[in-house]
Amino acid sequence: MVIRDFEPKDVDAVVAILKANQQYNQEEIDGPEAMLRVRACDAAEFIVAEEDGRVVGMARGVYDGSRALLHIISVAPPYQRRGIGKALLCEIAKRFQARGAHDLAVTVPGEVGFWQRYGFRTTTRIMLIHPIEKVCDL
Ligand SMILES: CC(C)(COP(=O)(O)OP(=O)(O)OC[C@H]1O[C@@H](n2cnc3c(N)ncnc32)[C@H](O)[C@@H]1OP(=O)(O)O)[C@@H](O)C(=O)NCCC(=O)NCCS
Repeated sequence: MVIRDFEPKDVDAVVAILKANQQYNQEEIDGPEAMLRVRACDAAEFIVAEEDGRVVGMARGVYDGSRALLHIISVAPPYQRRGIGKALLCEIAKRFQARGAHDLAVTVPGEVGFWQRYGFRTTTRIMLIHPIEKVCDL
């Protein structure tokens, strides 16, 4: 297994993984253009896992200088339970730690058992508004 930075050529494979895991919800947030913006964002880490030259998993998150926040880890269903999720989580945690992070949160845990296995515990629940324009209208 190889873990490396996301590259533009990975877009289709990452979209397919997210769709297979029902994590492809909004084009403007999860779609190809958003992926390219995340890649260009200095605060973000966006990595993929490759098996035999094929992209089979991804993780992405952000460090704002104080807190590290993971948004998604996703492994293609046929490749799950082979240690790929663990490898992605470990690599992104190391990267945030190297930037200065002391803790790591995940916004939408999905498979709670996975996070519990690696020591995550449920704390406050996040609240969300979409679309963002509504904030000033309400
Ligand atoms: C959750 C997910 C990222 C885990 O990736 P993975 O590659 O399958 O996990 P790993 O093989 O690295 O798992 C390592 C350990 O974590 C634990 N684990 C993994 N998935 C688990 C689950 N669904 N429930 C409970 N524990 C789990 C197990 O202890 C596992 O070790 P084992 O297989 O020897 O028992 C993957 O299943 C996935 O993409 N799920 C769908 C999307 C999702 O919910 N993502 C998380 C929210 S962003």
